[in-house]
Formats: sequence, C-alpha cells, structure tokens
Amino acid sequence: MTTATGDLRRLGEAPDPATLDPAERMGVDELRSVQLERLRESLRHAYANVPHYRRAFDEAGVHPDDCRELADLARFPTTSKADLRENYPFGMFAVPREQVRRVHASSGTTGRPTVVGYTGRDLETWGAVMARSIRAAGGRPGDVLHNAYGYGLFTGGLGAHYGAEALGCTVVPVSGGMTPRQVQLITDFAPRVIMVTPSYMLTVIDEFEKQGLDPRASSLEIGIFGAEPWTEQMRREMEERLDIQAVDIYGLSEVMGPGVAQECVETKDGLHVWEDHFYPEVIDPITGEVLPEGEVGELVFTSLTKEAMPVVRYRTRDLTRLLPGTARPGMRRMEKVTGRTDDMIILRGVNLFPTQIEEVVLRTPGLAPHFAMELTTRGRMDHLVVRVEARPDCPPERREQAAAEVTTGVKDTVGTSIEVLVVDPETLPRSMGKLQRMTDRRERA
Ligand code: DLL
Repeated sequence: MTTATGDLRRLGEAPDPATLDPAERMGVDELRSVQLERLRESLRHAYANVPHYRRAFDEAGVHPDDCRELADLARFPTTSKADLRENYPFGMFAVPREQVRRVHASSGTTGRPTVVGYTGRDLETWGAVMARSIRAAGGRPGDVLHNAYGYGLFTGGLGAHYGAEALGCTVVPVSGGMTPRQVQLITDFAPRVIMVTPSYMLTVIDEFEKQGLDPRASSLEIGIFGAEPWTEQMRREMEERLDIQAVDIYGLSEVMGPGVAQECVETKDGLHVWEDHFYPEVIDPITGEVLPEGEVGELVFTSLTKEAMPVVRYRTRDLTRLLPGTARPGMRRMEKVTGRTDDMIILRGVNLFPTQIEEVVLRTPGLAPHFAMELTTRGRMDHLVVRVEARPDCPPERREQAAAEVTTGVKDTVGTSIEVLVVDPETLPRSMGKLQRMTDRRERA
C-alpha cells in the first residue's frame, strides 16, 4: 500500500519533556525489565483467578513460572474473541464481581457482545494512558476538548472523557449524532481539540459547509481520530479542510479501550504502543509464529497491569508491524492499521482492504471521500461494486472519467477488477461513529 505523504506531512510541537510520564522517558532496557516483572505477575494473576487461563495454560503444558524472559511469552496460548464469548458475560474476570467498577461491551455483528470489566485501579490506569495519548497528540491542560466518540457501552466516549479530565482539559461530552448541534457547539465553545471517528469527522465537516461556515476558520487545532482504519490520504483531506493536525489513536475494548497506542504529533510516523501497560507481539495469522520487528502480521497484546480482566496474548485481528520508537525512543511503534483480517475481501484470489479503495478515491479529482462497497455474485464469481459520491462542484461530464480512473487505480495498485459508480452528492449513508462500508450480498452456495 502506498503512503504518499513523504515530506508533505506537517508536524506539530512536541510536549515539554518535563511533562511526560516516567515510562515515556525510559530507555529500552529499563522498560524491558519493568515489562518482565509485570508480565510474570500478570500471568500468575490470570492463571490463579481465571478458569479459562488455567485450563488453556495446563493444556499447552505451560505454567506462569516458565516465563523467565519476555521471549518465553511465545510459549503461552493465544486468546481469541471466541474465548471471551464462551465466557460471557463475566467469566473472564479475575476479581470478584463486586470489585468491578465498570463494564463495557463491544457490539459484535452477530450473537453475544464481548464484555470487559475494570477495577478502580484499572480505570485510573486507563485515564492515565488516555491523558498521555491526548498530550502526545498535542493536547494540553486547559484545552477545551470536544468529545464526539459515542458514550455508553462503547469504550470510545467514556475512555476519552476520563483521559481528558485526567490531563486537565475542559471536556464537552457531546457523544455522536445530532450533527447540526456538533457544529453549533464547536462554534460556540471554541474547542482546540476534537476526538471523534474519522468517518464522523467528515460528516461534521460537511455540515459546517452546509451551514455556510468555513471549517478552516473554526477554533479546532487538533483532531484525535481512531476506532476504525483511515489512510494518509484521509489525513490530508481532514487537515486541509479543517486546518488542523490529524493524529491517530488506537485501542480495543478487550485490551482496555482507546489509548493503547498513540501517534505523536511531532513525528506522525505510526503509533507508540504504551508498552509499560500493553505488551505487543506480531504473529503470522496462519501459523501463529511470532514475527520479527518490521514484518507485517496480526497484532497480539498481553496486558501487564490489568486487574479485573487480564488478557494473555489476545489476537486483535488487526494487521500491522512493529517498528523501533522515535518520539518516545524506549517504546515501539505500530504502523497505522490499514486492515483487519475480518475486513479483507478476497476478490478473484486477490486480497483487498477497504482502505485501498479509500486511497484511490481520495486522490481522484471530483470525488468526495464518501463511498460504499457492495459484494455480489456475478456468474460464479465475486463481484465488487463501489459507489462513490461526486463532490458538489464535480461537473457531470467528469463523473464517468472519475469512475474509470478509480477502476484503473485499483487494478494498478491492488491487481483486481471492480465496478465503480459515481453517484450524486449526499446520497450515501453517513457515519455517526464507526462506519460500516461493506454490504455482503453474495449468493451462498
Ligand atoms: O474502537 C476503541 C477506540 C475508541 C479506539 C476510540 C480509538 C478511539 P473496539 O470497539 O473494541 O474499541 O474496536 C477495536 O477497532 O481492533 C481495530 O480493528 C479498530 N481500531 C481502533 N482504533 C483504530 C485505529 C475501539 N486507529 C477495533 N486504526 C480494533 C484502525 C482501529 N483501526
């Protein structure tokens, strides 16, 4: 996949080093010894208190005492979403339910949701890593922060909320939806920072324009975008239309929520994993073998400090690679996640991710960043139709050519044929949070 930003990336100002957490200033060796100690403790805690882990470790013939160095973690079994589902709702908790201060759940497209729990100390840890993330993105104590991540069982809203409070921001807890009101509150309260999914940010930018307001003239200076994949092209689109710094935040409920990894505004070169709390590995998704730094595979996390629901080698299904630290030299970075194994389409033998379509659409003049994908069956083959909105100022005679350019662009970069239809502005569904781009209408054999 291309990352065409190169020198065009505009960078922000680093936080004052004196304001960083001690862990952010650790060297690699010091961090590794903290991690090993915490890992051993966390494995013992999981084994002693969660029947699932006791069974899984016993079956694999490993015991927490076998973990003498960090590399020994590879001998332990991985954990999947299915394991969490089978222990629904509270079976993965490692503390008595009375000690759990809060639960969250991720919706899941089918069946039972995945439930996660936090003790009071877990909530403090989460607030601290989220505060660290907002600071790394360029947020400062005293900033007004507009939080448009959804509040409720989703971890985005409350996770961002308590982190912003912990940093010392003035939080505007708007949640998602009611788009005209989002614009009004941004105009009236003059936030410097916005936290929202990138797809909903686009909906809000469009609403500014619909109301005849110039989004570039808003008070916003920093956008902290995550919860779904987005591309460098999308970063440029949002930075230009809003005149902000757009930075990436990553996380998942099973591991904590938002704030597991964060891009630093002074480098914008991938996301630093907050490794003092979350230990990352990248594995081959088929063989399960641990891959060396720099190789792309499935990201796996082991929690190092969680009390209520420790996770051991949790398979995220997110594809990325690990790289050495830059802005925080002791902590490794993960490359921007551009695909999940779940979102991958295999079209005539070629792997295709929605972000690859996004890249091509966004560099095609005349097209808006709004598109929807529909998978159907034609003959005996899978067939992908991509509907893309024209920008309001796109001349009608340009549409057909733009569609042809996307078809060719995808053929050239991905190597497979798709059908592209350019549709009228404002005709495709808009995101209110995480956007579901794909509809599967394939005939089942
Ligand atoms: O989406 C937590 C979150 C909230 C992260 C707000 C960032 C901001 P879940 O609902 O459990 O948790 O979904 C986790 O979302 O495994 C990824 O597939 C995807 N994801 C999250 N952040 C990013 C990102 C929250 N920055 C799943 N880039 C993860 C790409 C992301 N994908």
